[in-house]
Amino acid sequence: MISKISLGTVQFGQDYGIANTTGKVSKKEVFEILDHANHVGISYLDTAYSYGDSELIIGEYLKENPSEFKIVSKLPSMELFNLGKVEESLEESLRRIGLKRIYGYLVHQFSDILINDDIWNSLVRLKDDGRIEKIGFSLYSPDELECLLKNELDFDIIQIPYSVFDRRFEGYFDMLKEREIEIQVRSVFLQGLAFLSSEHLTGSLQEARPQLEKLQQIAEIRKISVEALCLNFVLLSPHIDKVIIGVDCLAHFENNVVSLNLIGQVRNVYGQLSAIAIQNENTLLPYKWAVN
Ligand SMILES: NC(=O)c1ccc[n+]([C@@H]2O[C@H](COP(=O)([O-])OP(=O)(O)OC[C@H]3O[C@@H](n4cnc5c(N)ncnc54)[C@H](OP(=O)(O)O)[C@@H]3O)[C@@H](O)[C@H]2O)c1
Repeated sequence: MISKISLGTVQFGQDYGIANTTGKVSKKEVFEILDHANHVGISYLDTAYSYGDSELIIGEYLKENPSEFKIVSKLPSMELFNLGKVEESLEESLRRIGLKRIYGYLVHQFSDILINDDIWNSLVRLKDDGRIEKIGFSLYSPDELECLLKNELDFDIIQIPYSVFDRRFEGYFDMLKEREIEIQVRSVFLQGLAFLSSEHLTGSLQEARPQLEKLQQIAEIRKISVEALCLNFVLLSPHIDKVIIGVDCLAHFENNVVSLNLIGQVRNVYGQLSAIAIQNENTLLPYKWAVN
């Protein structure tokens, strides 16, 4: 299962995560995490132009420790960047990471392609030129996927939120696989919410209390860690190609890797886990969280 893990790196470039108390990961710890990823055979990294200095620090690591990571990065928001400057954005990401070409390059902000369809045409050109192996989209909601399908865009990768709580995209998995689209999922811990004690939920997140308590109850009764439940739940779906996990420290990363061995035990509680989905997007989507 390690071959299906991609290491998320937003935490390397900026303060991130609802349960994060320590801020951006130090360079020393980033290097230790990347060493461990290399050591256990993780070969994918997920980054983005807009993750602070995440791309730069990956570049620094690769310079000192040449490695075979396949890297997925994402375009900056075209609102912040000059419209239509896809080539320049890619060049800048490649420069920061120290690469000549990249495995994956995704549209980060879905609304950008609604404003300007030259963005997609540029990505297709860059793929044809061999600078990018796979192009695609990072999405937040099924409506966005519907829009891509309606417009018949020929994409290779889709990155979506998927977890024991967030099952909104499940109905599309068969169709995406028939089209040989690589499905990468993120937010398997709901940005760290899965680990919070339910008394600490505030604002709109209080709606997640029943499901969070149920998850933690299963963990306690079955003596399976929360990380093992969350990670193996998504890995048990045969449709998922890559699971992107984010960590703020090496110890949590090590726990997550070890927890992959518990997939058999998690299979035994799959039915129970399947019953704790959350429907409300105000609870599922971090950008909609109102925590006070
Ligand atoms: N495309 C997009 O729009 C987009 C959006 C968000 C994220 N991402 C990507 O996805 C990656 C993951 O972000 P996410 O939002 O999906 O977060 P996530 O993986 O659901 O949760 C990550 C958080 O969970 C905590 N955590 C992880 N393992 C833990 C453990 N064993 N014990 C306790 N806490 C643990 C981490 O904090 P601690 O280690 O401090 O506990 C971390 O900050 C990012 O790095 C980024 O690459 C992409």
